[in-house]
This record gives sequence, structure tokens and C-alpha cells, in this order.
Amino acid sequence: MIITKSRYEIALMREAGQVVAECHAALRDFIRPGITTLQIDQFVESFLLRHKMEPAQKGYKGYPFASCTSVNDVICHGFPSDYVLQNGDIITVDMVALHKGLHADSAWSYAVGQISDAARHLLEVTEQALYKGIEQAVVGNQISDIGHAIQTFVEAQGLSVVRDYIGHGIGRQMHESPEVLHYGPPHRGPRIRKGMTFTIEPMVNIGSYETRLDPDGWTARTVDGSLSAQYEHTLAVTDHGPEILTKL
Ligand code: MF3
Ligand code: CO
Repeated sequence: MIITKSRYEIALMREAGQVVAECHAALRDFIRPGITTLQIDQFVESFLLRHKMEPAQKGYKGYPFASCTSVNDVICHGFPSDYVLQNGDIITVDMVALHKGLHADSAWSYAVGQISDAARHLLEVTEQALYKGIEQAVVGNQISDIGHAIQTFVEAQGLSVVRDYIGHGIGRQMHESPEVLHYGPPHRGPRIRKGMTFTIEPMVNIGSYETRLDPDGWTARTVDGSLSAQYEHTLAVTDHGPEILTKL
């Protein structure tokens, strides 16, 4: 069942989304060679708490941190650690804020210092892929139109879309219906309606789209060791098109 949200609920998600967006903007200056991913996690946790938001990922299904910090070949759900970021790394930081019972979720990839042309291309294509998906989040389309647009765009750029992790409805729960795939045929799945709130969060790899899980049970990596990037927004569907709730 897809739970559509009231104007009031969407307003609360927008407030949460603004803090998440501000935190990502602040991370752009904070992330540099020489800091650890645990320092990033502490930055995210204190930023959210300072803005009266709960870091919703912490404790969610046993996940131990406020953020996911996914470096280089890590696709998603990387554990913050004492790893020191190196010039040329890429890192995805994912966070969820909970505000008066409602969630907002956004992930962003960052360059650490100077990165290779291939890594820069990956980041640019993945961010553009997110917006190709968002364009399809309009009343009357079907949910799979989003993934079809993303896959078509990404593969035309010679990159691959991860299948094993997907976007999701979001609201009073971090994960709700519908499932939002980032690949597949168009014109399938539920019709998109006003008041729906969901994430779009394509993960894109330079090599194969296949994933493998580390022994920690969370950290997902590319099987071939190739770089992976991710950009994620939380959206609300309105009569005037998608509203990005996690945009500054
Ligand atoms: N933000 C992630 C998502 O897109 C949630 C990661 S799982 C968690 O669904 F356990 F870390 F919260
Ligand atoms: Co998400």
C-alpha cells in the first residue's frame, strides 16, 4: 500500500530535507584529504542533532552510525571508520533525518582533492541520472518510467546501474512502498499520484553492476573493484511536478 502524504506531512519532510541539504552543502567544504570517514560521521551526527533532527539511520535495523560513508568501490552502506581519505578518492555520504515523525533521505558523492577524469565522469553521469529520473516523477506516469529513464541514460554513457539496491517510498517509515527501481522497462508498476513521497537514488558503477557484501553484513562493493557513485533525493509529487524536498 502506498501512503500519500498531507500538505502538513510534506511540510515536515521539507523541513527535515532542508537540514539534510544544508548538511551536504557543509560537507562539500569539510571533505578533503587527511580526514577520516568517522570524522565525517561525527560531523553529520552533530549537524543533525544541532538542528533538532534525529539521525534516523543510527540503530535502524542495527546499523551503527548516523551516516553511510562509501569510498571508491563501495556502492552503499559503508561503515565510517578510521580510514583516512586520500587525494583522488571518491566518497558517497548518505544520511536520513527524522523530524516530528517524518523522514528525509539524501546521499551525495564527493571528490576528495583531485580525482581522475574517469571518476569525474562517473560523478557527473550519476548526478545527471538522478535528475533524468526525477523528470519522470510526474502525475500520470508509472513508477518504472523513472528507472527506465535512468538506465537508458547511464548505459548510453558506458556505465552500469546497480540492481541490488533501490529507491523507496518514505514518510513515517524510512522505507515504505513503492519500490523505485533504477533500471527496467517503462510503463510498469503503480501510477504516480499527487502526495506520493519517495526517494530516487541511482548507484552507478564504471564496470559491472554486480555487488558483493563485506563480512560486516552492510558494506556493499562492486565485484570487479571498479568505482561506484550515488546521488539521492527525497521527492514529493505535486500537481506541478516533482518537488525535491532535499534540495537547498
Ligand atoms: N539512506 C539509506 C536508504 O537509502 C538507508 C541506509 S540503511 C541504514 O535507504 F541502515 F543505514 F539506515
Ligand atoms: Co534512501
